[in-house]
Amino acid sequence: MARIAVTDGMATKAKKMLKKAGHEVVDEFITEERLLDGELSNFDAIIVRSATKINSKVIAVSEGLRFIGRAGVGVDNIDLKAAGQAGIMVVNAPNASTQSVVELTVGHLLASLRHIPKSDRSLRDGKWEKKAMKGTELNGKNLGLIGFGRIAQGVASVAKILGMEIHTYDPYLPPKVAKSFGAYLHKEVDSLFKTCTHISIHCNLTDETKHLVNAKRMSLMPGKKSGITCGNHIVNCARGGIIDEDALLDALNNGTITSAALDVFETEPLPDGYELLQHPNFHGTPHIGAATLEAQQRVGIDISKAIIECLNGGVPKTIVNKEFLN
Ligand code: MLT
Repeated sequence: MARIAVTDGMATKAKKMLKKAGHEVVDEFITEERLLDGELSNFDAIIVRSATKINSKVIAVSEGLRFIGRAGVGVDNIDLKAAGQAGIMVVNAPNASTQSVVELTVGHLLASLRHIPKSDRSLRDGKWEKKAMKGTELNGKNLGLIGFGRIAQGVASVAKILGMEIHTYDPYLPPKVAKSFGAYLHKEVDSLFKTCTHISIHCNLTDETKHLVNAKRMSLMPGKKSGITCGNHIVNCARGGIIDEDALLDALNNGTITSAALDVFETEPLPDGYELLQHPNFHGTPHIGAATLEAQQRVGIDISKAIIECLNGGVPKTIVNKEFLN
């Protein structure tokens, strides 16, 4: 029997699955202080979402810990190298939340274009601003997807049905994949910005993608420059930090960007007085891409299966730190 810490919550069905496999589940948030005190030494495995940060200092004091499960996709809250060097295998659940993030992305696009959050704020203020809420359609517009993995592919499929032309920039994508979605694959990211009035981000945050969306690139977008009446729109449901948020605020203020919607931010939770929230053409959500009943059930079950496989001596396909394991 293994001891498994579940620190950021998990679907009941998934916890039952771990218990049924004969393991003890301790379902409780562990503070940073307790993590640094070596509390994880008492566990064989830990399952986290994004709130628990497993950095190199935590790993250094977690002797005995053998497996880390990330109930979700992004592993930026785990030091993969330090874990691997300490012999800890890290696994994630990359597929389970795809549909939910696709739906949120399309929701944000539609919400921006049809002024849904702005109209709601105005109604709550007792106003009836019908003329001011005239929006634009997605139909006929160019959608630029930065990264073309599972989520972007799902967004592309829905956007095509809505009549959008799909463009993508993904330096790791075999051209035949873009072709199979009828997407135009750009070789340079700047070329995507020059072509698309609507941009949605679907890549990881890395040194390469940090502030990939910056003032210069936003100024390349054709909406304002070429007088295309729909203007320019940006959505990010991937990771904070890919957009330079100060540059985004400037771009909203000077009209380069017509609307922006973010689910993810450089600092989460948002700091007091976060300025983008004051802009009428901005709306946001608190990192809820995978926060649906269905996604959380699937995420919990997928990660529990992977941890059970690890504890049985297997190596799940979703291992993410293979190159660092000694
Ligand atoms: C993920 O990486 O799975 C999503 O961003 C959701 C989350 O962090 O909880």
